[in-house]
Amino acid sequence: MRKLFLGVSALLFLDTLLQLYFAGFGVFGEHVVGGDESFTPHSINGQFVLRGLALLAILFAALAKAGRSTIWLTVGIFLMTYVQLIVFILGGILSGGSREHPNLPGAWMVSVHAVTGLLIIFMTYWLFRRARRLVRTGSARRAGKRQSVSTSA
Ligand code: HEM
Repeated sequence: MRKLFLGVSALLFLDTLLQLYFAGFGVFGEHVVGGDESFTPHSINGQFVLRGLALLAILFAALAKAGRSTIWLTVGIFLMTYVQLIVFILGGILSGGSREHPNLPGAWMVSVHAVTGLLIIFMTYWLFRRARRLVRTGSARRAGKRQSVSTSA
């Protein structure tokens, strides 16, 4: 089960890098593909593949007994994929702008999406390192940080 958790967390991390690549295509492909189509790979990957892998990571972290903080990390990653949507919704509400009628304040606000996206990439890398440590050492957390279950039990 630990190896499956490692596999899923590796796929999740790699998919966030793919998501960033698709964001690049969204920007540089805009004048080639036209309209909003250039962001379709980014949108579909973000809504379905990234969220699906994040859900699987929660399941396998629990089944692999990766520990409470690691399970909470997987939940955090899953919720952050919705933060990516909430940034757009809030940006629209607060600025009165929209995709059809964009405005400058809205553009400044929704640009937070790129930074929260980077945070997701860091969180998935952090999860991958914990999953790898779980397979190698039997604990997802570094030696100094391990919960002293034995002393408190
Ligand atoms: C410069 C970088 C980025 C840009 C310009 C960007 C832009 C966008 C745009 C325009 C959409 C809406 C697509 C649509 O519905 O047509 C979107 C959706 C999304 N992006 Fe990004 N993005 C960036 C980076 C990231 C990163 C790094 C992640 C996560 C690793 C991410 C995760 C998401 C998710 C999950 C959605 C789907 C939101 C939803 O509709 O539920 N984005 N992004």
